Formats: sequence, C-alpha cells, structure tokens
Amino acid sequence: METGIKNVRYGTDKIFEEAEDFLPLLGTDYVELYVGNAKQSAHFYKTAFGFQSLAYAGLETGVKDKTSYVLQQDKIRLVLTTPMTPDGPINEHINKHGDGVKVIALWVEDATKAWEETTSRGAKSFMEPTREEDGDGYVVRSGIHTYGETVHIFVERNEYNGIFMPGYKEWKSHYNPEPVGLKYIDHMVGNVDWGQMNTWVDFYAKVMGFAQIVTFDDKDISTEYTALMSKVMSNGNGRIKFPINEPAEGKKKSQIEEYIEFYKGAGCQHIAVATDDIVTTVSAMRDRGVEFLYVPNTYYDDLKSRVGEIDEDVEVLKEHGILVDRDDEGYLLQLFTKPVVDRPTMFFEIIQRKGAWSFGKGNFQALFEAIEREQENRGTL
Ligand code: FE2
Repeated sequence: METGIKNVRYGTDKIFEEAEDFLPLLGTDYVELYVGNAKQSAHFYKTAFGFQSLAYAGLETGVKDKTSYVLQQDKIRLVLTTPMTPDGPINEHINKHGDGVKVIALWVEDATKAWEETTSRGAKSFMEPTREEDGDGYVVRSGIHTYGETVHIFVERNEYNGIFMPGYKEWKSHYNPEPVGLKYIDHMVGNVDWGQMNTWVDFYAKVMGFAQIVTFDDKDISTEYTALMSKVMSNGNGRIKFPINEPAEGKKKSQIEEYIEFYKGAGCQHIAVATDDIVTTVSAMRDRGVEFLYVPNTYYDDLKSRVGEIDEDVEVLKEHGILVDRDDEGYLLQLFTKPVVDRPTMFFEIIQRKGAWSFGKGNFQALFEAIEREQENRGTL
C-alpha cells in the first residue's frame, strides 16, 4: 500500500516542510512502563542505568490501586507502575505483555487542543482532557491510543511547579548511583504485525501530522534467515521520532515476529537514549551489569572503509562493541542492550550522534546477525 507521503530530508534548517504543525510537540515528557514489581525495577534502572530518584505515588500519597516510581536522568523521565490489586487494566497489561511500555507521553502547550486535533482526525481517545492540581499548580493531560495497547498522553505543564505531577511526592533516597550520561530520548521504535506498518505510518501522518523521513525494506535489512521493513516518522521540529517496524518474510522467524509473539501483539521495541560520550556511558553501564548485544570482531575489520575517518579509536570501539554508521551529514555511534525484561521484547539503544540524522541502516545487517545468534541460543530462530 502506498502512503502518498514523501520522504523528507532531515537535518537542514527547515526540518520538515511535509510535517504539519496542528500538533506542536515540545519533546518527550515521560515514558511509563507497566511492570510486575515497580520497586525492584526502579532499583535496576537506578543501579544499572544511572537514573535518579524523582517522585513516588502509592499508599503514602493516597493512591490505593497502584504504585509508581518516577526516575530521571537529564531530560529523560521513566515512570514505573505496578498494580496493587489482583485485577484491572494494569494487571491485564502485564499478564498479556509482560513488563513493557504503556505510555509514551508527549509534552505540549495545550493538551486539550492536542486531544481535539488528534481525535477529530481519527485517533481513538484513551483519556479525555483532565485537569489535575495540587498546591504547586495544575497539569492538564489527555490521551489517545496508538499501536497495540500503547498510548500517547499529552501533558500540559506550563502552570505546574511541583516535582512531577499532582498525586506524586518527592522521592528521597539515600541510594543515589551516579548518572551514566544519558541525556534525552532520541527515538522510540514500535513493532507492529505483518502488513501493519503502513497503517501506523498513515496514523502518524494523518492523525499527528508527522512526516516520513526514512524507509528501509527487506532488501536493505535482511540476513539469510530473517528480515524487517521499517519507516521512520517524525514530527515537525524533529524532537519526536518513531520508527515503525514490521516483519518481512525470511527463511526463519524474524526478530520482529519473535517480539510480536512474546509481547502478544504490537508494542514498543526499543527506547533509544542519547549520550555525548558513548564509550564512557557504555563502559559504566557494562560495569553495572547491563548486557549488550555481542558484536563480532569481524565487524571492525572493514569499519574504516565503510565509514571513513572517525574521531574514535577503532580498538576502543571494538573493545566495547560499539557500532558506527555514516550518512551524508556525519556519523553516529550506537549499541543495543539485550532485552531488559524476561521476555525477548523490550531493549534500549545507546546512541551518540556526530552530525548524522539517520538511524544506523548500515548497522542493521550487523545487528540482525548479532540478534540471530541470540535467537539461536533461545531456540526461537
Ligand atoms: Fe533505534
């Protein structure tokens, strides 16, 4: 199916003439994961990823049905939420999907207008515009459904001066591991089922005014066994980028198909977080127990011929398994964690951009081969 959306160049002054501005987005406000044990997940993200304690909501703040821990590192906020009762939508989500991303919250000037603009263009409402207030001011939130059971919540917080949102109190802890240098969310990837990529590309174009910036097809990204197709959607100012993947036909099971099978449907595959110094960030995370995908040493043999001159010492990159890719504007360094949950579903990407605007297309092949070795170990290839 043709979407009729033109590919648009990225990285120049006027980022996307194609993107429409009926939905101005200031950035990612927070990402909320539904998890089986929020207290222990929070400890993991503090210890292993260098997040800091920010806020808490639960019995002590008058919330009876769920507990949420909010963590922060520079501009990134993670909310980890667990249910306190044996039934209800949070339980159902965890039961079906395992731990995973429920909410990709977007920071807006006007959450009511964001909801009206998107629902009038066909979005299914998740939450009508709702004003929440306490002694520190008020927040207005609204929400719409996206792929799978994932939702977008629009957060308007210009009139709020509290720690996070009404209903939360500051979370003070004596345990405060150093940050590892994670700065902001660069992009978040959605995996959707066979034949669904263009449906969701259309959704982001029509409902949210995004433009398509990159396409990969199965000729770009495939190994002997598995393949995927991917299109990248971005909002007008380039702060919000959502690649959408669907499986493609291969001799054996695609990693996207494996995700869909274990997540029981579409969902967020990875959160890419930016750093200014990937070597320092990745070595700190490794020291703290984060597992990264194995990159074969042979990947580095022809690195210079693929990407040309780079500032980094190839031996150092090889030691840390850091991947490099170049586009017409510069290059990028990236690395992927193994899944951070028990099912082979959600993982993180660490990315450092040195001028490049793209997503590491040249590394997909290497990444795929690395992931297939992992799939082989799990017996799910
Ligand atoms: Fe990515």
